[in-house]
Amino acid sequence: MDNTSDLSIRQKIRVQQANNMQEKKDAFAVRTKVFIDEQRVPSDLEYDEHDESSGTIHFVAYHLDQPVGAARLREYTPKVGKAERVAVISEVRGLGIGAELMNKLTTKAKELGFQKIKLNAQLHAEPFYKQLGYAQIGDVFLEADIEHIAMEKELD
Ligand code: COA
Repeated sequence: MDNTSDLSIRQKIRVQQANNMQEKKDAFAVRTKVFIDEQRVPSDLEYDEHDESSGTIHFVAYHLDQPVGAARLREYTPKVGKAERVAVISEVRGLGIGAELMNKLTTKAKELGFQKIKLNAQLHAEPFYKQLGYAQIGDVFLEADIEHIAMEKELD
């Protein structure tokens, strides 16, 4: 993909909170493609009780009308949010969609009064989160057979 087509894709990206059932389904379609199909995470681990909780906020990114990215935010402990299930389909990675999903999620976390966001990063994605201001806490651990590290960021 050359720079011209990257730019034209970027211009047609929309990142938003999933506001209805269809938009939530769209976010789930991305997660199925990335985590279940690509990374072989079992579906019973990928989807959990937090997905249907009224306190969980889902985010979805669209290219034109096609869902291409997803993330979710939930309360972890009072004043602390947890970012989870951050995913961008392979065809459009590296175009800033993941960062934009995290920006939207962070804005919402501040609106909700969270003072900190925690997440469990897949080890390969550590530079992505580090660039967004997250710092590693603790050692590498396995989740769904994938190496992870816990990271967190204070919100101002
Ligand atoms: N390793 C190192 N740097 C990375 C990276 C990676 N895996 N993914 C992104 N970055 C960097 C980019 O180079 C970019 O830096 P730049 O601004 O200097 O160019 C920055 O992070 C923002 O990248 P962006 O284009 O917004 O990321 P993305 O849209 O490709 O999304 C992921 C990043 C991790 C969400 C995406 O690669 C993905 O879905 N991976 C598979 C699922 C996954 O592992 N999710 C994370 C679960 S914890």
